[in-house]
Amino acid sequence: MKQAVGLPIDRVDGRQKVTGSARYTADVAPPGLLHASVVQATIPSGRIRGIDCSRALELPGIVAVLHHDNITPLDSWPSGIFIGDERLPLSDEHIHYVGQHVAVVVAEGFEQALHAAAAVMVHYADTHKPSVMGPELPEAMLAAARPGENQSLRVARGDIDTALGEPAAIRVEGVYSSPAATHNPLEASATVAEWNDGHLTVHETTQWVQGTQRALAAVFRLDPTRVRVVCPRIGGGFGCKALVWPHTVLTVLAARICERPVKLVLTREQMFTSTGCRPATVQRIALGAQPTGKLTAIRHEAVNSTAATTEFVEQCGRSTSRILYACPNVSISHGVVVDSGPPGTWMRAPGECTGTFALESAMDELAVAVGIDPVELRLRNHADVNPDDALPWSSKHLRECYALGVERFGWSARDPRPGSMRSGTDLVGWGMATAVYPAWKMPAAASVHARSDGSALVRCATHELGTGASTVFTQVAADVLGFDMQRVEFVLGDSSFPPAPVAGGSSSTASVSQALVEAGAALRSKLCTLATATSASPLSGLRPELLEIAAGRVVARGDAGRGIEAGELLRLAGQDELGAYAQVSADAGRDPGYSFTSFGAHFCEIRVDPRLPRVRVTRFVSVMDVGRVLNHKTARSQVVGGIVMGVGMALMERLHTDASGRIVNANLADYAVPVSPDVKAIDVDFIDVPDPRFNTLGARGVGEIGITGTAAAIANAVHHATGIRYRRLPISPDGLLAPPFVEQEDSEA
Ligand code: MOS
Repeated sequence: MKQAVGLPIDRVDGRQKVTGSARYTADVAPPGLLHASVVQATIPSGRIRGIDCSRALELPGIVAVLHHDNITPLDSWPSGIFIGDERLPLSDEHIHYVGQHVAVVVAEGFEQALHAAAAVMVHYADTHKPSVMGPELPEAMLAAARPGENQSLRVARGDIDTALGEPAAIRVEGVYSSPAATHNPLEASATVAEWNDGHLTVHETTQWVQGTQRALAAVFRLDPTRVRVVCPRIGGGFGCKALVWPHTVLTVLAARICERPVKLVLTREQMFTSTGCRPATVQRIALGAQPTGKLTAIRHEAVNSTAATTEFVEQCGRSTSRILYACPNVSISHGVVVDSGPPGTWMRAPGECTGTFALESAMDELAVAVGIDPVELRLRNHADVNPDDALPWSSKHLRECYALGVERFGWSARDPRPGSMRSGTDLVGWGMATAVYPAWKMPAAASVHARSDGSALVRCATHELGTGASTVFTQVAADVLGFDMQRVEFVLGDSSFPPAPVAGGSSSTASVSQALVEAGAALRSKLCTLATATSASPLSGLRPELLEIAAGRVVARGDAGRGIEAGELLRLAGQDELGAYAQVSADAGRDPGYSFTSFGAHFCEIRVDPRLPRVRVTRFVSVMDVGRVLNHKTARSQVVGGIVMGVGMALMERLHTDASGRIVNANLADYAVPVSPDVKAIDVDFIDVPDPRFNTLGARGVGEIGITGTAAAIANAVHHATGIRYRRLPISPDGLLAPPFVEQEDSEA
């Protein structure tokens, strides 16, 4: 039987998605449904003096306006629950950040709810000036920082001060910064909540059905078995749907108070403040090296903005300066500064996307200072073992990533002198950077059932974010069961299914497939036993160990002609189905003596017209080492998507606030993200060597690594094209006017 794993198979839900028959959370409409809309604070911090609902309550269709003054406040979050904003909504009159929800309006219709929400008059007092931390004020942000609470992120290896003070050392130092940015998935966040006899059913746009189940059970003081969270698919998440946000709690609360099902769909504008952001970051990096380029010291100080209600630490140094290069003296710290922007949260490779921008830019500066090729600099500092815990890597092929990328890109034709490469009047820049992302694995479970119609049903409470997970898991399930893919139905996105982790940290594929391997083996063995024990079966009386499953048939090993189709066997045995279940720990299939990380290399070409200095990314080559690639088509899409998001991070994306602290570009016209013309050729390749020390299939994750290193590769290419070192994102045209070595045509000198 042909293996499904490894083939570039089309998405199993592709037809549903392109024909519009795939249903999303906002499509759910139980009978008696009410619609809700949130009212958001228009000040960044201060206090509510009063809420006047009188006009709203006169509008057609209005059912209720709920706010802190007319509800019983919810109890606080118990500890150990992961939530986006640690402050419960409507808990008091205080405002802590821009767009904080201050009321929820419930009406018969969606437009009626929106209209009534606009008619709620909120009066404020003690309004404070907004404090918005941004990349314009890097030194102020570094100076104002206090240490982040998560001190496990601190690294103090060797003697950093002595190493940096070494007289013969080559030193580079820079401050790198990035603004607050938002996820902007195509699908807006939505909740449909329905109470029934003390049971709560919630349809939710979530990357974590069981995390949402636990959080809602905790805050509404229910046994988790009374809460069911359903989410068959989401239209992108990138981290903004990983944790429970206040609007979800408000929808459940509104449904309880109004005693009818309630749906809330955030507007695009509300998405910019209601589901977290990638916080603003400032990173100061100092590198010390021998004249050969061999690193002797890395000092990495990272600071990010955080909301007053929730301390979020962007882990900029974790997988970057800590482990990316062999270096004896390393110091890493993380600090936070409170500002009045939306709460920070995970946003695709949180910490690594920002951290690699700083470190990989600094490495490019070091290559220039030493006078060697940036690829060569990285090879000279290659970490043969994990420099942090001294463990060997389970599987690391970063050298091959560099080599293959160099070849595919044609890197050896690069003239290292800035401004030396042209295409017509355009300046051409070639830059590169390393990509890195940890390989996480978490506990997971799955159930598998062979059915008498010859099909198999597989259940797991995992998630389909649009990544292709359901396709990949169908492939894996088919292979581990010995069934053809067409006969396997894989269902996910229901908290009542066997446990699965959050679809975050690029961990789903590695975690869930391990559960599938074990559940599949258990079912195969049960089918073999049944075949030997069923008297009418042609395999009756044989030893089960002599049998196997192939193409949905139980057959004698080495004699595939002798066997019986699994569905027929069940019918003979008088059973509708035969099931197996497996639950695996994070350590299942993993060798504890190793370190697990994915690596990759990006090479990019940019062009700048010096008269209109807008950067265009014209070519991108990426080679990734993510272990075994289970589906080249969906894996490639993940890396391409990560690169495109990295182009946005490098060149376009940022939240802009006005003097009152409000976000002025909270829409997809003014908040620019890359569209097709912004990215030309993207060439993605994989090393595709299995990592069997990590899990049985040898597959690490692929969802996030694409964005890591991308912004640095672009910034490095901009330096190569123009001689201008951009340490502040996004790279905007104003800083590129008058590249230093380009003759100015209109010069009067
Ligand atoms: Mo991802 S930022 O771990 O959803």
